[in-house]
Amino acid sequence: MGRNPLTRRLQGLGTTIFAEMSALALATGSVNLGQGFPDTDGPAEIAEAAVAAIRQGHNQYPPGPGIPELRLAVAEHQKHFYGLSYDPDSEVLVTAGATEAIAAAVLALVEPGDEVIALEPYYDSYAACIAMAGGIRVPVTLRPPDFALDAAALRAAVSPRTRLILLNTPHNPTGAVLSADELAAVAEVAVEHDLLVVTDEVYEHLVFAGTHVPIASLPGMAERTVTISSAGKTFSFTGWKIGWVTSTPELTAAVRTAKQFLTYVNGAPFQHAIAAALRLPDSYFTGLRDNLRRKRDLLARGLAEVGFEVYEPRGTYFITTDITPLGETDGEAFCRALPHRCGVVAIPNVVFYDNTEAGRNLVRFTFCKRDEVLTEALNRLATLRT
Ligand SMILES: Cc1ncc(COP(=O)(O)O)c(C=O)c1O
Repeated sequence: MGRNPLTRRLQGLGTTIFAEMSALALATGSVNLGQGFPDTDGPAEIAEAAVAAIRQGHNQYPPGPGIPELRLAVAEHQKHFYGLSYDPDSEVLVTAGATEAIAAAVLALVEPGDEVIALEPYYDSYAACIAMAGGIRVPVTLRPPDFALDAAALRAAVSPRTRLILLNTPHNPTGAVLSADELAAVAEVAVEHDLLVVTDEVYEHLVFAGTHVPIASLPGMAERTVTISSAGKTFSFTGWKIGWVTSTPELTAAVRTAKQFLTYVNGAPFQHAIAAALRLPDSYFTGLRDNLRRKRDLLARGLAEVGFEVYEPRGTYFITTDITPLGETDGEAFCRALPHRCGVVAIPNVVFYDNTEAGRNLVRFTFCKRDEVLTEALNRLATLRT
């Protein structure tokens, strides 16, 4: 293994915790609040649109950048929700989920030895993608209770080798949503040091207070930002893996060049269905948010009653808790024992950190599950109190 340079670079990165915990959930009959995928499908008419696309014969390789209808729908979505204008032909690229968009963007834009600043804790593919590009990740740690971005820490992280800032808002796993001031601080640093920003906004429609603000909408940012999103979380079809990039023609072309040799294309019939999904009325998007907000409140209240310290998320599918009030200190040990103790699976936040001390006592639960599943998990967790 040591002779394989890529394996060496990836060693110890990423996490097997999701697979391990899902297997443990099955083996113990646990309620799985680990991985973030809904247990209810998205809109029936969108599923029907995918079936219709298959029946209509949209089953061969779609165009490399994505089908024109979907690129147009993405451009219209950015205009409608954020007032951002993108040319569907040169400034929109369809990808195999946000995951491929992140990989293609980092591979396209990071040279070996370049430094990439990322908000820690981070979604696990970030570290692996930076390593695959030969880059060096430089974490800026978000800390409880607010998981706010420390602008001074961000400034201190910049060096002459910094190439880009990899942003994620709303933020997984903390549920933080960058405020106007925090976004402005990122923009100021990026402009001052002429940095690129790659921003993962897959939870853009799951902001529970206020509205999502793409960093690309700040002055000076459109020309240096690669914005990434996907259909998975917004339409509850995570398995379809339809994602997209919006950026300048030059940056979009760079990402497309990497994407071309990763998957080339994906999901032809699903691209048609997601083009229809992006045109659903506003009430769909607000309904999704309101429903998830209600689930957040249900789980947050219950976890607090059990005795967890709950850091109320302002967005995403996830609640981060501190287990210290339960007399626990090690989130990983706690999560490994929890299925046996009371039949619930959660994820230790430490797997998303380089700076493991900062995440040791934190545990993440997802609330994108049916109400009865959340209630059952809370009933089981209540036994921890006795
Ligand atoms: C922050 C973040 N980015 C990207 C993804 C993956 O998105 P996709 O399924 O579209 O590849 C996830 C999924 O959990 C996520 O939480």
